[in-house]
Amino acid sequence: MILDDALLATLLNAKHIVVFTGAGMSAESGIATFRDAGTGLWEQYDPSVLASSQGYRADKALVWGWYEWRRMRVLRAEPNAGHIAVAELTKRVDQLTLITQNVDDLHERSGNTSVIHLHGSLHSPRCFTCARPYTFPDGIPNEPVGGRRLEPPQCNHCKGTIRPGVVWFGEMLSEAAWKQAEQATLTCDVFFSIGTSSLVWPAAQLPVMASANGAKVIQVNPGATALDNKAHYNLRGKAGEVMPALLDALIAH
Ligand code: APR
Repeated sequence: MILDDALLATLLNAKHIVVFTGAGMSAESGIATFRDAGTGLWEQYDPSVLASSQGYRADKALVWGWYEWRRMRVLRAEPNAGHIAVAELTKRVDQLTLITQNVDDLHERSGNTSVIHLHGSLHSPRCFTCARPYTFPDGIPNEPVGGRRLEPPQCNHCKGTIRPGVVWFGEMLSEAAWKQAEQATLTCDVFFSIGTSSLVWPAAQLPVMASANGAKVIQVNPGATALDNKAHYNLRGKAGEVMPALLDALIAH
């Protein structure tokens, strides 16, 4: 990748970098995007119905089974070169805030311990009734390849049923997560948008806010997105290729 001098200077002078990631960040780890996640048993269901409180109320075993199947795939996946480069970059700059729309834990597993999960996490379920957190048993259950219906566990406190800790369609983002993301966006001088189609709001608002506030916006994506004309740099390529190349260029400087 040819890294132009202006981009290199922007990165070298950055005081606070925000890295904002979407499904494309985890694609090279083999995690299907939300819209591709309908294989096997799930092919016949609309993901936007499965990912809603209406869908859960209508058929808890179906929805819980889908999320457990997705969680098992994540537990078996490994962070890719893009995740690792972001973790390395974090160690080398004054301040880096990592914001993700992803519900996996691949950033954490590559070394970023403080991650703002705008859309929640597959790994932090809670009670549908009393909202108390639920802890999964250790280990990776033997989930059948194609997935299966599965009754959700019961809450230890109120005997309600457990739901996934993700933000469903029709639900608000966590106010605390959004505030942190917004504050980082408004105080950064460089904003990376990596592997997101920039279509889902309010998350997609963040790079636009950063740009309006004077930050340089660098987009990493093999394809065109809704952010293209707002980004200062469009680095066309996979996160797992572009981010390591960018890190190498910084180190070599
Ligand atoms: N590296 C970088 N980007 C990639 C790669 C890759 N290897 N592979 C694919 N992409 C890009 C695609 O070109 C696309 O622009 O990743 C983007 C994925 O877009 P979406 O599937 O729309 O994912 P995302 O933007 O994260 O969706 C946002 O929508 O479905 C809901 O809540 C869900 O968090 C999700 C949100």
